[in-house]
Amino acid sequence: MSLITVAIDDIHYKVPKDALLIDVLIENGIDIPYFCYHEALGSDGNCRMCMVEIEGKKRPQIACDTFVCDGMTIRTKGEKINSVRKKILELELINHPIDCPICDQAGECKLQDFYMDYGLYDSSMNKEQKVTHKKHVDLGSNVILDQERCVLCARCTRFTSNITKTGELGIVSRADHACVTTMPGKKLSNPYAMNVIDLCPVGALTSKDFRFAQRVWFLTPTESICQGCAKGCNIYIDHNKQKYQEDTIYRFRPRINKKINGHFMCDEGRLSFHQLQTNRQEQCLLDQNKIENQEFIIAFHEKMKQADEILIVVDANLYLEDMAAIVAFAKTIGADIAAPTQCYYDESFGDHWLKNSYRCANKNGLDDLEISSKIPKQQYDLLINFNHPNTQEIQASFSVSFQTHQQSTHYDLIAPIPVYSEQNGTLINIDGIKQYSNKAIEPHESTFPIRQWLHKIQEVNL
Ligand code: SF4
Ligand code: SF4
Ligand code: FES
Repeated sequence: MSLITVAIDDIHYKVPKDALLIDVLIENGIDIPYFCYHEALGSDGNCRMCMVEIEGKKRPQIACDTFVCDGMTIRTKGEKINSVRKKILELELINHPIDCPICDQAGECKLQDFYMDYGLYDSSMNKEQKVTHKKHVDLGSNVILDQERCVLCARCTRFTSNITKTGELGIVSRADHACVTTMPGKKLSNPYAMNVIDLCPVGALTSKDFRFAQRVWFLTPTESICQGCAKGCNIYIDHNKQKYQEDTIYRFRPRINKKINGHFMCDEGRLSFHQLQTNRQEQCLLDQNKIENQEFIIAFHEKMKQADEILIVVDANLYLEDMAAIVAFAKTIGADIAAPTQCYYDESFGDHWLKNSYRCANKNGLDDLEISSKIPKQQYDLLINFNHPNTQEIQASFSVSFQTHQQSTHYDLIAPIPVYSEQNGTLINIDGIKQYSNKAIEPHESTFPIRQWLHKIQEVNL
């Protein structure tokens, strides 16, 4: 890649030849306000917020439609450019409602941020003169539109026309009557529709699932990996522990990873956090009766001593570290080990973009550790299941299950383990990319991670 030199606010930068100026500014951490440009959607040039001064040009230029050239001198700060931004902002806000105190986007709204940076004026508009639009339009797919808050940046419409190519959204009418709407007879309905919520720079598009659940400044984002399928989209887990309450996940958001999911994720993955918080296994059980963790360890140990033929079954969603610990444990006790993967395959789920038909996060981890998908024998004395969802056809005299959720399958002995958001670990996605996922939430006090259970069980063995 050939590099050229440009001067931005009196500092010299080496940048790729023919790069888009707005990309250069963003990549170098130089403050530039913008609404309509988005790395995944490209330029549209409609908001005019990204104005900069360029030496030799009479008027300010938009950075999202300017390519850099060698020796270019750019100014992003100063009285003149700030006054241009202030005027454009005033134009954007002419008909904007005074909604910030009740708006769900407060705290992550570009209009709010830019007003604080460049606006700070008293509006010359009389409140009664503002043009009003519809305040609560259910677009479908969990997306609510407030037409008055829209700055007509066209990110949402470009997403449905250029990315998903489903074309449900458009901008109709002219001037101050222009507004976003669904096309006649259509609802917003595609498996990636909720991405328009993240794309919308203001509070015009909000999530039915998240709106009014939490103020965003109370949320802690933890970097993680979605386990909805084998793609391994990078996400933020936004969670909060309120006084006297459990630490709770309120939403998943896509985290940029250009090699995997770009800026986006699917709606099913986005909403999958609800499953992490419902129907959880939080207690050890023996024949459906509650027992203490220590009693579980003793009962488990007794059964292991009595059994000759032992089968260990492994869930294809476990972290690589857990799988490796289970493989080592199987060797120690002389057990067979298998992970049938056919039950994770759902052809109707996969598509040609992100969604993968294997609905498990670490199928390649099993291959990496050479864990076979075939069960070697017909009948076992003892089955030890590490959270695999389907063991109904396995014949065993006694069964033990380490599980995250309560299951309809009967197991004689049960121990609770954390879900993926409650521990750290490594996954290998369907394209062979190894990724690390962080712990967001503390697990329930009686829940031990698999490695800890195995350690405690082996301690008894000694
Ligand atoms: S709804 Fe949001 S994303 Fe769509 S045009 Fe309006 S401001 Fe832009
Ligand atoms: S495509 Fe798969 S990994 Fe990505 S968000 Fe959807 S379910 Fe999660
Ligand atoms: S970001 Fe450049 S015109 Fe909108």
